[in-house]
Amino acid sequence: MKASIQEELANIVTQFKNEGLLDHEVNVRIIVENTKDKAHGDFATNLAMLLAKPMKKKPQEIANLIIERLAQDDRIANTEIAGPGFINFFVRKDFLAKQINELCNDPRLGVALTSNPQTIVIDYSSPNVAKEMAVHHIRSTVIGDAIVRILEFLGNKVIRANHIGDWGTQFGMLIAYLEKKENEHANALELSDLEAFYREAKVCYDEDPQFAEKARFYVVKLQSGDEYCLSMWKKLVKITMDQNQEIYRRLNISLTEKDIMGESLYNPMLKPLVEDLTNKGLAVKDDGAMVVYLNSFTDKDGNPRGVIVQKKDGGFLYTTTDIACTKYRCEHFGMNRMICFADSRQHEHLLMAWEIARLAGYVPQDVSLEHGAFGMMLGKDGKPFKTRSGGTVKLKELLNEAEARSRKLLEERNSDIPDDEKENVITTIAMGAVKYADLSKNRTTDYIFDWDNMLTFEGNTSPYLQYAYSRIQAIFRKADTEPGNIVITNEQEEELAQKLLKFNEVINAVAQKAMPHLLCAYLYELATLFMRFYEACPINKPEVESSTKASRLSLCKATRDVLKQGLSLLGINVLDRM
Ligand code: ARG
Repeated sequence: MKASIQEELANIVTQFKNEGLLDHEVNVRIIVENTKDKAHGDFATNLAMLLAKPMKKKPQEIANLIIERLAQDDRIANTEIAGPGFINFFVRKDFLAKQINELCNDPRLGVALTSNPQTIVIDYSSPNVAKEMAVHHIRSTVIGDAIVRILEFLGNKVIRANHIGDWGTQFGMLIAYLEKKENEHANALELSDLEAFYREAKVCYDEDPQFAEKARFYVVKLQSGDEYCLSMWKKLVKITMDQNQEIYRRLNISLTEKDIMGESLYNPMLKPLVEDLTNKGLAVKDDGAMVVYLNSFTDKDGNPRGVIVQKKDGGFLYTTTDIACTKYRCEHFGMNRMICFADSRQHEHLLMAWEIARLAGYVPQDVSLEHGAFGMMLGKDGKPFKTRSGGTVKLKELLNEAEARSRKLLEERNSDIPDDEKENVITTIAMGAVKYADLSKNRTTDYIFDWDNMLTFEGNTSPYLQYAYSRIQAIFRKADTEPGNIVITNEQEEELAQKLLKFNEVINAVAQKAMPHLLCAYLYELATLFMRFYEACPINKPEVESSTKASRLSLCKATRDVLKQGLSLLGINVLDRM
């Protein structure tokens, strides 16, 4: 409320300037203070006194001018001029109460459906075939999925695009190696260690000339649509994606098999694409390769940067695929917006691919192409997150460790959760903690992965929010009254109510900026205000009047529902007891 009065006063100062009452150059510091004595209203400002000199008028006169202009604000019950020219504000508690009562009865908790629903493609997760999901894929997966949920919640049509790396010359080698393993009757388990599979295939390729020759032969056959090679390739994709699907399941990620739109999908489009770019005069032959020169990207000497779209040997590149993919998504889905959640190191690559797609006229003017860039995940030592021996950390193992740590945490707390709920509590805390650690940081910066900071019930963590939720559930288990009409009677209730009313604004900001940490910060502040409220405002005590009880229970209910909805939009589950 303080902030909105401040804002209102700033508007009035601008009005004074526009009406010629105040010089445009004048800068005033607008201060709104809480009054010490409520008999003088809720807030007070000395603005009229500050303006007396520059406006060459008496403070009382200016105070009257301000009050005249404030009259439209129906959140303010009354104003008065006090002493040498202070303005005191009496806030309409019933207005706040009316709004918060509405929120309580609204299944959408005050979050309106967008008036302008869009078709939005979210390109995220995007792991590579025959490789373990690496750390940057976790970030993309977790952040992308939260944004998908939020955009859908607002009423947009969202297309999940899992742009998996399922095409390229490495598949000759991988097919040859899969064939070798099959001939040796390898079981599914042996094939499931993708890191080892890839490494061993590479060793064979480098050391066995006969194997290498076969691998090269298989690339050509695969490219020309040979049935055997295609079926082997499909097997590799399936082995990888079955494993990734299990990770999605554990992490509560909404991606399914149907969302796979890998690089291979665009392969048949690449040749005609380069032909079209050539016909349009965009791609030119340079030393045998086809290159697009971009004036908007210059090298260190100020010359246009060249982007290779087809190599001398006829092969296409990662960028060529991204151009085709952008074109396809515009044509096929009629998208209005696309957000690609990829590592910040891919920034230039994406911008150049999109610039080419725009120059070629594949992207309608008003389509927004955005890179949801994110920083690296670092270990406690500030270096890229790796295993002790320097290898990539397997996501599966990371999740197992999170569960082991969550189990320990729960045991230390001696909680009295019934045995049949325990496993669910452990995994819900563990997966929430891992996801939230990632989501709560501004995605554009690198962040330090630290078990101790994420698996704790203190601070801006998922366990803290889950705990706040379960605490409210406990209040309801004890309550002997139903939630009822909210009446705001003190500061703690007021602050909590004000915060709850900000949910809509926060959700919209997250959708616009594709920044889930804003929602995390909001939920954390909400939970903190709730704890403060709960300390100051007893509920389940015999001396509390039943109407007060009912009012406070409604505030509990609204907080609980916003926490649950907010966490669910982040893909995190809540617990009734923990
Ligand atoms: N597969 C890529 C990687 O592992 C990420 C793909 C991002 N999306 C895109 N359209 N290029 O880094």
